Amino acid sequence: MELLTIAVPKGRPYGETVQLLRSAGIAGPELTAEESRALMITCPALSTRFIIARDSDVPTYVEHGAADLGIVGKNVLMESEPKVYELLDLGYSACRFILAAPAAADPVRLLDGSAARRVATKYPRMTEAYFSSRGLQVETIFLHGSIEVAPKVGLADMIVDITETGRTLKENNLAIIDNLWTSSMRLIANRASYRLKAERIGPLVQRLRELMAG
Ligand code: PRP
Repeated sequence: MELLTIAVPKGRPYGETVQLLRSAGIAGPELTAEESRALMITCPALSTRFIIARDSDVPTYVEHGAADLGIVGKNVLMESEPKVYELLDLGYSACRFILAAPAAADPVRLLDGSAARRVATKYPRMTEAYFSSRGLQVETIFLHGSIEVAPKVGLADMIVDITETGRTLKENNLAIIDNLWTSSMRLIANRASYRLKAERIGPLVQRLRELMAG
C-alpha cells in the first residue's frame, strides 16, 4: 500500500489527535499518546507515517508536499492562508480569537482612536485585518507565545490571541473586549496528494466523518 504522511501538531491538541487517528485506523501503537522526542514515526502495518511538528509549521509541510495530510487549528490556517485543501472540520480544540486588555483598562478609550495603540499577538495578519475593518490604526507587536504577559510589562496595550478555557486570561488579569472569530482543528491536504492518493485519502475522510457523526 502507498505510504501516507500526516503532519500532526505538538502541544495541547496532540493527545486528542492521536486518539482520533487511532480510532480512524490510520495510527498504530507506534504513535504513542504521550509526545515522544522522535519527530517522525512510521506505522509499517498501516503504511502511514507521522511528522510531529509545531502547529504553525503543519501547513508548510502540507503545502510543500512533505506531508500528504495535516491536522491543524483553523486559527493557524486563517493567519497563514496556505495553498492546501481544507477537507474537514474535526471539531475539537475549539477556541476563540479574542481582543483583550488589562481588566482595569477602559475598553472604550482603548478603541476611540485618540492614541496609537500597541497590540501584541501571534497573529499579526488577522490583527491588522480586524483593526483595519474598524478603521483603527494600531502598532502590531509580534510574539511567538506567552502573549498575555505583554500588557503587564508595558510592551502592549492590548492583545489578540486565542482562548480555550479562559484560564490564561484570568491568571494574567486580562478581560475580553471583543470576540473576533472561532476556531477548531481541521484536516488539510496537499493539493497534488489529494488527487494522486485519492484512493487512500477518500476512505480516510469518510471514516473521520463517520466517527464525528457517531
Ligand atoms: C495558547 C494561547 C493562550 C492560551 C489560552 O497558548 O496563545 O496563551 O493557549 O488557553 P486557555 O484559554 O485555555 O488558558 P499556548 O498554550 O499554545 O502557549 P503559548 O503561550 O506558548 O502560545
